[in-house]
This record gives sequence, C-alpha cells and structure tokens, in this order.
Amino acid sequence: MQIPSLQGQVALVTGAGRGIGRAIALELARAGATVALTARSEPELQRLAEAIRSEGGQAAVFPADLNDDAQVIGLIAAVAGQLGRLDILVNNAGTSVNQTLEKSSTDDFDLLMRVNLRAPFLLCRESIPHLRAQGGGFIVNIASVVAVKGYANQALYAASKHALLGMSKSLAREVQPDHIRVHVICPGGVATEMVTQMRPDLDPSGLIQPHEIAETVVFLVTRRGRAAIDQIDVRRDTNIPWA
Ligand SMILES: NC(=O)c1ccc[n+]([C@@H]2O[C@H](COP(=O)([O-])OP(=O)(O)OC[C@H]3O[C@@H](n4cnc5c(N)ncnc54)[C@H](OP(=O)(O)O)[C@@H]3O)[C@@H](O)[C@H]2O)c1
Repeated sequence: MQIPSLQGQVALVTGAGRGIGRAIALELARAGATVALTARSEPELQRLAEAIRSEGGQAAVFPADLNDDAQVIGLIAAVAGQLGRLDILVNNAGTSVNQTLEKSSTDDFDLLMRVNLRAPFLLCRESIPHLRAQGGGFIVNIASVVAVKGYANQALYAASKHALLGMSKSLAREVQPDHIRVHVICPGGVATEMVTQMRPDLDPSGLIQPHEIAETVVFLVTRRGRAAIDQIDVRRDTNIPWA
C-alpha cells in the first residue's frame, strides 16, 4: 500500500541529530514533509539535513537547548516563521540518568524534568495555535516503556516519562475537537547511543531499530483516523528492562 504523502507539510523533530530522532526525521522527509531539525549539536543536524537533501527531501536546521525555556519557546516561532507553517510536532529528545533515587541529585531531577517534560509541554503549548491554523495536525511524543513501568536506577527517568504520558493523555482530549491528534509511543530498548553508553554489554542487534520507531511515527501521521490512539508500546521479546 502506498503511504499517503506529507508533501507541503512541515514537521518539527526534536533530538533529530542522532538515534531515534534522526530516523524519524529521515522517514518523515521520505514521506514528503519538510523537516525542521533541532538538537544542541549543529554539525549533526547539518549532516542530517545534507543527507535528506541528497535524497531529494527538504530540511532546515534549528539548533536549540531544550534545557532553556526561551530557546524552547522561540523554536516554534522560528520554524513557523521560516517554513511558513507547522503540521507535525515530534517530541523525541530525551535524556536519562542511570542511578538509584537515593544517589540522585536535585540537578539530575531538574535536568530530566526540564528536557523530558517541561520542553515537550512548552513545545505542545506553543505549537497548538499553528496546528489549529492548518485545520489540525499531529503531536507525537516519544515516551518509553518506563512511562508505564518502573525499573531500578530509573526513578527520575520513569517519573519524567510517566508525566509525559499523563500530560499527553489529557492534551489528546483537549485538542481532539481541533482535529489535532496526540500520540505517545512507548518503546522498549532501541539500538541508539543512549543504550550503548549505558548498557555496553547488550547486543544492539537484539534491540528495536530506530527505523522501526520512525515507521510507526509515519504510520500515525499518515493514517488520520477518527479515533485517537492513546499510546503505542513497541517492544521486543528480547526487550531489556531499562529504557
Ligand atoms: N534508546 C532507547 O532504548 C529508548 C527507549 C525508549 C525511549 N527512548 C526515548 O527516545 C528518545 C530518543 O532516544 P535516543 O535513544 O535516540 O537518544 P540519543 O541517541 O541519546 O539522542 C538524544 C537526542 O536528544 C537530543 N538532546 C538531548 N538533550 C538535549 C537538550 N538539552 N536540548 C536539545 N536536544 C537534546 C540529543 O542531541 P544533542 O545532544 O545534540 O542536544 C540527541 O539528538 C528519548 O526521549 C528517549 O528517552 C529511548
């Protein structure tokens, strides 16, 4: 079956420089969207933009630190201003701390909450008027299996992802009348730098591959149903309980 085209639509992907975000940006561009790429590392974003253009796609780079409210809020205005509209927001960027709650610092807590929850909150809030202006759109939040489960050494990460899931569930109800669909994907372990740094003992080939999450995103934003899908869990039997 042919994938419906996203031609003419603009998608913002956070954490687009590598890992899952990079794969999502590539697949959205392949589906026809103009992709706005953001993360802190500009060289990574520029390399991805070149890769997208070399395939005939369209991409623009918007470096920003999601730990900084002003930069987060300015991002939506910058994307809509430069690219003319916004149709799809993918809150993918995230960070983790592999530590017991007892040994975690308040700085750890604040960082995880700011990047994993506060930034998606601000980006959702700022993007809604733009999505509404197009007669609807999509917000896809990348949570984690840890949004529904708890594992040792993941208390702060779990708190941020549980909160992201809860926020998304309420938001989905609030914006459904505006034809804005809010989806949450809750992956198990995905073969990215985040995993290899924290669990070098794991064989990446047994994990979910980033393109599988990307294909799920493209599925969600190209099959507009009347009903909302609240939450998608993407898991493998070999899933490891950490992410
Ligand atoms: N990998 C897994 O097993 C797994 C499983 C479930 C859920 N997830 C979730 O999936 C998402 C992507 O994970 P990943 O494995 O692809 O991670 P990753 O390889 O570590 O990439 C994280 C991305 O987020 C960006 N980022 C981090 N902190 C940022 C900040 N302060 N401001 C702006 N951008 C920031 C990074 O870019 P810069 O460093 O250049 O800023 C990078 O592009 C995260 O939300 C993660 O929690 C991952």
